[in-house]
Amino acid sequence: MKAIVTGGAGFIGSHIAEKLSDSGYSLTIIDNMHSGDIHNLGRIKGKYELVKGDSYVIQNQEKADAVFHEGIYSSTPMYRKDPSLVGKAITDFIAVLEYCRKNDVKLVFASTSSIYNGYEPPHRETMTPKVKDFYTEARYPMERLADLYSQMYGLKYCALRYFSVYGDGEESKKTYANMVSQIIWKGILDKELIIYGDGSQRRDLVNVADVTEANIMAHNKDVTGVFNIGGGKSHTFNQIIELVGQKLGKDIKVKYTENPLKNYVEVVEADTEKMKKILGFTPVVSIDEGINRAIAYYRRLDSVPDIF
Ligand SMILES: NC(=O)c1ccc[n+]([C@@H]2O[C@H](COP(=O)([O-])OP(=O)(O)OC[C@H]3O[C@@H](n4cnc5c(N)ncnc54)[C@H](O)[C@@H]3O)[C@@H](O)[C@H]2O)c1
Repeated sequence: MKAIVTGGAGFIGSHIAEKLSDSGYSLTIIDNMHSGDIHNLGRIKGKYELVKGDSYVIQNQEKADAVFHEGIYSSTPMYRKDPSLVGKAITDFIAVLEYCRKNDVKLVFASTSSIYNGYEPPHRETMTPKVKDFYTEARYPMERLADLYSQMYGLKYCALRYFSVYGDGEESKKTYANMVSQIIWKGILDKELIIYGDGSQRRDLVNVADVTEANIMAHNKDVTGVFNIGGGKSHTFNQIIELVGQKLGKDIKVKYTENPLKNYVEVVEADTEKMKKILGFTPVVSIDEGINRAIAYYRRLDSVPDIF
């Protein structure tokens, strides 16, 4: 069995690749190495080929049995800096869709909970996105195109709207990493953490191990559509800071500053009904356990990325 993972040198993609490899898949990783790192591929135990390039190069690949598309610029600030990435995400995605259509293979791809910006929680798949930034402007058409391919050609797909994904192995994302990682790194390094606003913004955290499992289930199960992938409960930044501080046995130094970002996401919290009932997926890693694992991992590293 062969699987293609675009963005496989990134945080989530490399965890998916590791799991697939452990299950006996041979792998092709497509990654332009923008925020990915060769070091992440170290977690893949089996055979893999790395194709360095944008996701559209999937069009040159032989038939695979599974496709996971994570190779998309992964953070809001990247798109603010260069809004042309919106077009790039869509162009790459059409090549991925065409590949899946021609080879009759199911597509599982990363979408985002940012798509719910402007709605009060709980956030449900039935809410029509109000586009609030360039990042969501890229993701919403991807979901619509997948639906169109499903209507026109019977393509099977799962668009997974990840909530706030955290966990071990996120050091390659550096300043784009999840707040949990940033808090742990700052705590370990005894550096000051900058928080926009008063720390009351809320995130629905989901561990990367659970997200990986959700991807595999989405491939294996005969379901098509958009699914939230979240924990169903949100935590404030201040609660996470306190929890990490307790676990590290120190006070995290925090500086609260005015939030300079327009259309900032204040709160995300998943409605998990569809994910549980139709995809059959329930996260199992508690916040407590996930943060313990992440702290143990980052303490073991020779050096937490000193990027601040
Ligand atoms: N981490 C989260 O909390 C979160 C939440 C919602 C959605 N997502 C989405 O999940 C996906 C994976 O995110 P991640 O956290 O692993 O980030 P990441 O930056 O570690 O992973 C993205 C990977 O894709 C590669 N890449 C970027 N653009 C590419 C392109 N055009 N062609 C080929 N490769 C490309 C990068 O080099 C990187 O290896 C992204 O699409 C991201 O937007 C992540």
